[in-house]
Amino acid sequence: MEKNIGKIKQDFISESANLRTAQDLENLRVRYLGRKGIIQNLYKSLKQLPAEDRPAQGKQINDLRKFIEERFKELKEKFTVQKAKHKLDLTLPGRRPPIGRKHPLTQTLDDIKKFFMRLGFTIADGPEVETDFYNFEALNIPKNHPARDMQDTLYITDEILLRTHTSPVQIRTMLNQSPPVQIIAPGRVYRRDTPDASHSPFFHQVEGLCVDVGISFGDLKAVIEEFAKYMFGKDIHVRFRPSFFPFTEPSLEYDFNCIFCRGKGCKVCKYTGWVEISGAGMVDPNVFLAVGYDPEIYTGYAFGMGVDRIAMLRYAIDDIRLFFENDMRFLNQF
Ligand code: PHE
Repeated sequence: MEKNIGKIKQDFISESANLRTAQDLENLRVRYLGRKGIIQNLYKSLKQLPAEDRPAQGKQINDLRKFIEERFKELKEKFTVQKAKHKLDLTLPGRRPPIGRKHPLTQTLDDIKKFFMRLGFTIADGPEVETDFYNFEALNIPKNHPARDMQDTLYITDEILLRTHTSPVQIRTMLNQSPPVQIIAPGRVYRRDTPDASHSPFFHQVEGLCVDVGISFGDLKAVIEEFAKYMFGKDIHVRFRPSFFPFTEPSLEYDFNCIFCRGKGCKVCKYTGWVEISGAGMVDPNVFLAVGYDPEIYTGYAFGMGVDRIAMLRYAIDDIRLFFENDMRFLNQF
């Protein structure tokens, strides 16, 4: 029996030196100190000894038990410290949090805003769900007029629709304040278009409106030309072509020199040297009448601007849909 106790102690010492996990430790504890463990068996075997041998033998078992318990305490501590270390290893290099960035359209819009604010324009806003009145009627586009065909519209009811351009913000602004007016109105617009590389059922515009005494066509040309140079470089020129919009008279469309070939002619500009940006013109007197401005006193210019188109030129992007797919591989490039 004594020999047995010595052997158990030796076994325990060598086994407890080879533990690798907290689970190993627990298994060892159950084996030695558990209810059906080695120590309990030793106590049970006491009964088989003659009564006079039991106290001495009992003491030996007690000593062994204390020794084992003591060692367990130490081991347990060691394993808990190890576990805690695992949780917080200050020597590991940090994980870099992914840094967000502005969408290329927002970056472009920020630059557009910066340019116009420098010239004294303020920023106006309007709803994307518009009424027929603001989107069409007040802009001199009567019901059933063929000019409505220019913009394929997403109607909600006969009177409510998704705005097809930012021009209704002209009306909202003028109804709210008297001249002078000098605003830009950036925002999302909607048209019933099938998506392809150059069409999206929603896209972005910046409207411009400047009304005061003595505002001329020359002011409009100068602002657009300065903008082209600011955005794309001093060598970029602007071309104005006669056009028609019901809410401007005269109306024009304007093109920038193609920024890929700088006007020489290439595939992007179909060898013309020019790319179309948007429309503009002098505010039609009928629009002034609709908002209660006197067209005999005031004149003004208005222009539109396609933000998506400008961003596509700026970053050489050949498919407008890329802006709206939330593909991080695309967005991370800007
Ligand atoms: N609203 C017109 C469009 O979306 C552009 C435009 C704006 C034309 C202002 C003239 C004046 O096509």
